[in-house]
Amino acid sequence: MRIGVLASGRGSNLQALIEVWKQGMLGADIVAVGSDREDALALQRAQDVGVLNQAFPLRNYGTRGEQEGAILSWLREQGVELLVLAGFMRVLSKEFLQACQIPVINIHPSLLPAFQGLHAQRQAVEYGVKLSGCTVHYVDEGLDSGPIILQEAVAVLPDDTEASLSDRILEVEHRIYPEAVKLVATGRVSRQGRVVEILD
Ligand code: GRF
Repeated sequence: MRIGVLASGRGSNLQALIEVWKQGMLGADIVAVGSDREDALALQRAQDVGVLNQAFPLRNYGTRGEQEGAILSWLREQGVELLVLAGFMRVLSKEFLQACQIPVINIHPSLLPAFQGLHAQRQAVEYGVKLSGCTVHYVDEGLDSGPIILQEAVAVLPDDTEASLSDRILEVEHRIYPEAVKLVATGRVSRQGRVVEILD
């Protein structure tokens, strides 16, 4: 299966996917990495391993709709069959999701549905929960609201800060995101409404 990745920032999850892919363990090929930011380290990480990469800065387009349209055309040109969001900081519109007709998945640094949106780790620390974690989910038209594929819990320690909790959650993200991509890419998930079942 051909995978496209969209990322806005440092791209550590992209790097985790690249490493598993390079070991021949991803069950899929990363063929394109796109970003809404020209300075995203994620683009450089793709470049370093010879993966096609492109920035789509908003200022090159009249509207967000046109920016999304350009991203979608480019993904189609590359024959992308699964779209993986890895720290992509734009919410994809309903129009994009309806038009794209391939699965779109995302990773979020909390145990959804808790702490949707930005700064999930800070929200967890401030709320005082004892457990947080990360979630890989299908993207639907809501914010961090799609059907859940994988989740793993991470303990919140008494002296945790946003930064220390983020670091520990990130380690888990780097393990479960490649695992989830492999499950989806190799057809080992089935969806019944909201509920995703992992097949043996
Ligand atoms: C991760 O914490 C991910 O869960 C969230 O954005 C962050 C991206 O980090 N969606 P990176 O760019 O993959 O390092």
